[in-house]
Amino acid sequence: MSRQIVEMTSAVGRNVPVGLSSRCRVAPTPAALRRHGYSRRVTSSTTTTTAASSSAGVGAREDASLSVADLVRPVLPSHGSTTRSPASAVFQVADLPPPVPTPSASARGAGALEVAMPPASHLLSATAAGLSLAFAFCKLKKNLDTPGRPWMDETTVGKEYDAWTDEKILEYYWGEHIHLGYYKDEDLRRGAGTLRGSRVKDFVEAKLDFVDEMLAWSRFNGTPRKVLDVGCGIGGATRHLANKFGSNTRVTGVTLSPKQARRAGELALKQGVPNAEFLVMDALEMDFPDDHFDVVWACESGEHMPDKGKYVEEMVRVLKPGGTLVIATWCQRSTPPAFTPREVVNLNYLYEEWAHPYFISINDYAMLLKGTMKMDTVETDDWTRQTIASWRHSIWVGVWDPMPVFSRPRIWYKTLRDIVCLERMRRAFGCGLMQYGMIKGTKSRKGTWSSF
Ligand SMILES: C[S@@+](CC[C@H](N)C(=O)[O-])C[C@H]1O[C@@H](n2cnc3c(N)ncnc32)[C@H](O)[C@@H]1O
Repeated sequence: MSRQIVEMTSAVGRNVPVGLSSRCRVAPTPAALRRHGYSRRVTSSTTTTTAASSSAGVGAREDASLSVADLVRPVLPSHGSTTRSPASAVFQVADLPPPVPTPSASARGAGALEVAMPPASHLLSATAAGLSLAFAFCKLKKNLDTPGRPWMDETTVGKEYDAWTDEKILEYYWGEHIHLGYYKDEDLRRGAGTLRGSRVKDFVEAKLDFVDEMLAWSRFNGTPRKVLDVGCGIGGATRHLANKFGSNTRVTGVTLSPKQARRAGELALKQGVPNAEFLVMDALEMDFPDDHFDVVWACESGEHMPDKGKYVEEMVRVLKPGGTLVIATWCQRSTPPAFTPREVVNLNYLYEEWAHPYFISINDYAMLLKGTMKMDTVETDDWTRQTIASWRHSIWVGVWDPMPVFSRPRIWYKTLRDIVCLERMRRAFGCGLMQYGMIKGTKSRKGTWSSF
């Protein structure tokens, strides 16, 4: 069933309920821009004397008989002549002329005030250095404020996650789970996720808590035979669920990134989790039969989907009648009121920095689920409060342990960009522009996918 994505059919724009797609796209996506023809790249003696004098001072402490000429003579014969040339005698400290008073020194004697002023050329150099620094700072800020990793086409997400998997920085800091953590009110009161409280709750432990809380919230009871993890990353949740449900359950994870699927398989082997498997497959066009899985699980993959309608429809299609679907995903706030120009700029940055075609609201997801006409129940919640500490927590873990970034020359700039994005995400969730969407539902038992 495994399928390497060599060529994926475009799902952009398909099956988004009428009126939803246009309402949700608050800013043109790269694909939309392309459709409209927009193309994105988108005095030497003085110096010698001074140096020689200081060298002589040091040498004098070690061996009073050494002259400057001795010190300037090459140490190894192979580095030049060992015979003292007559000219070298001029470097004898005792032969140095008395220091010539500088204009400022003379002026100081005369009691003038401007004597402390540096020469004009020093002022000019300092001004030039200051201007260069300011220019460099503005340029860096402009670069960091310009999103640089937009969703371009169906291959973007796979390539981005392949790169992240190869770099291993994400795995080092985020562990096996590429999603936010869960922080109870009590954790937050104790300062979890802050710089000084970054050890109140381990960052990776918060993610495991998230998986357990998401499962509890789904209200799925019993032991499923087949579970699907849609957009599984390197399989942290897939393996956790496989361990939790036990050997009678098979958990299948799908991702667009071949390197993620390979890494997920390696970890399953290493950790002895034979009931977890990983496939490279497009969630918008899955190879699984209708009505197949008892549980369909999707944690933070909806953000990357260019067609949210098709995403939801495919997950409902492969879900068994009576089965449970549970989705956790980053959402933008509902409209109206319409987004302000400032919000549009912020959203656009969040879309285009981490390969997100666009977001939709929690309500939009609920409408999409109900729109399939196959769900008995659909419920939603907003977990912003429980997850928002993760954004800065992930920055603080790097601040406390920065070496992996700085020991890798090419990684630090990308990491700097990620830090900026993490902080902008934090602010967007903090001000209500973004919300952490939880959506769940039970598929109707009235019939099979094709019969009702
Ligand atoms: C933020 S990561 C979440 C990883 C995982 N759910 C976890 O909890 O660790 C997003 C994942 O969604 C996957 N993804 C995005 N679009 C996809 C698509 N169309 N089909 C399959 N996987 C997709 C990516 O490859 C990546 O593995």
